[in-house]
Amino acid sequence: MRQSLSAMARLAARELTGRMTTQHTETQPEVNPTVLVLGGTGKTGRRVADRLIRAGHPVRIGSRSAETPFDWEDRRTWEPALDGAAAAYLAYYPDVCDPGAAATLRAFAERAAGHGTRRLVLLSARGVRAALPAEEAVRVPGVAATVLRASWFFQNFDEGILRGGVLDGEIVFPAGDVKEPFVDADDIAEVAVAALTGDGHGGRTYEITGPRPLTFAEAAAEIAGATGRPVRYVPVSAEAYGAALVRDHGLSDELGAFLTDLFATLLDGRNARLTDDVHRVLGRAPRDFADYAREAAGSGAWTG
Ligand SMILES: NC(=O)c1ccc[n+]([C@@H]2O[C@H](COP(=O)([O-])OP(=O)(O)OC[C@H]3O[C@@H](n4cnc5c(N)ncnc54)[C@H](OP(=O)(O)O)[C@@H]3O)[C@@H](O)[C@H]2O)c1
Repeated sequence: MRQSLSAMARLAARELTGRMTTQHTETQPEVNPTVLVLGGTGKTGRRVADRLIRAGHPVRIGSRSAETPFDWEDRRTWEPALDGAAAAYLAYYPDVCDPGAAATLRAFAERAAGHGTRRLVLLSARGVRAALPAEEAVRVPGVAATVLRASWFFQNFDEGILRGGVLDGEIVFPAGDVKEPFVDADDIAEVAVAALTGDGHGGRTYEITGPRPLTFAEAAAEIAGATGRPVRYVPVSAEAYGAALVRDHGLSDELGAFLTDLFATLLDGRNARLTDDVHRVLGRAPRDFADYAREAAGSGAWTG
């Protein structure tokens, strides 16, 4: 009798365990949480979103033109964007060094923490003191924040401010003969996805560089080689460049002065040093500029 009772107890326990296991798998399936990608139509954000979607994560793009419109300047748009988001990628616009960036990012990070967002990944810039307040601003209690200090993107040459120069055959820019370890926005995106979806990145600051420091003249030569068209670099002073931005591109005096100051500070060789952070996070080397230039030329990025 004792034996049959304990056998029945074992059977009952097994049945219960089985039911619990079944219930566990039925009621708690492995569901990836939503990731909010701010600047999700831009150079890095678009690539972050693509990767997350391919990996099966629900993604909400946050930008003014997105399905759920998000505007850094309009806080009423923040709550709908944050709804249910367990992690968020932050590519601040116009620039992480902007004097208003830190206050806006702090308010956003606190709002995100209140909504249960547990991971924030901020895109920042290397070697700029003006970016430090913004980096500090996203480190709020209850959130694992990761900062990605990136070098100049390769994609500035085909998707950003230097594209027009490439098309004209003359990249006019105030960088002297300084070397910059340009980096692929795809590599930045891959590091961002690792930090958004994996453990062990909270509290860290990664410095993301490409594998090879290049002067702007060398970068222009690589593009010329890849496109088969003459492209040269024309150095100018930061003041002349800032004035041209205001005169020819309609930037406000304030933004022109801000950019002049930023370029004069940034482009003095302080960022030439390479890091191995891409390798540390991804276990592989960052992509080389020559591969980017060949691929961009092949895809027609500089035609028309
Ligand atoms: N470019 C570089 O080499 C580099 C290097 C290091 C760090 N960074 C940092 O990267 C960040 C992004 O700069 P980026 O030039 O590369 O721009 P980007 O991410 O290529 O493009 C701008 C993105 O921001 C969105 N956006 C524009 N105004 C907005 C607003 N008011 N509210 C919400 N979203 C807005 C745009 O979409 P909508 O137009 O639809 O709103 C777009 O998705 C900056 O903070 C910069 O400091 C850039």
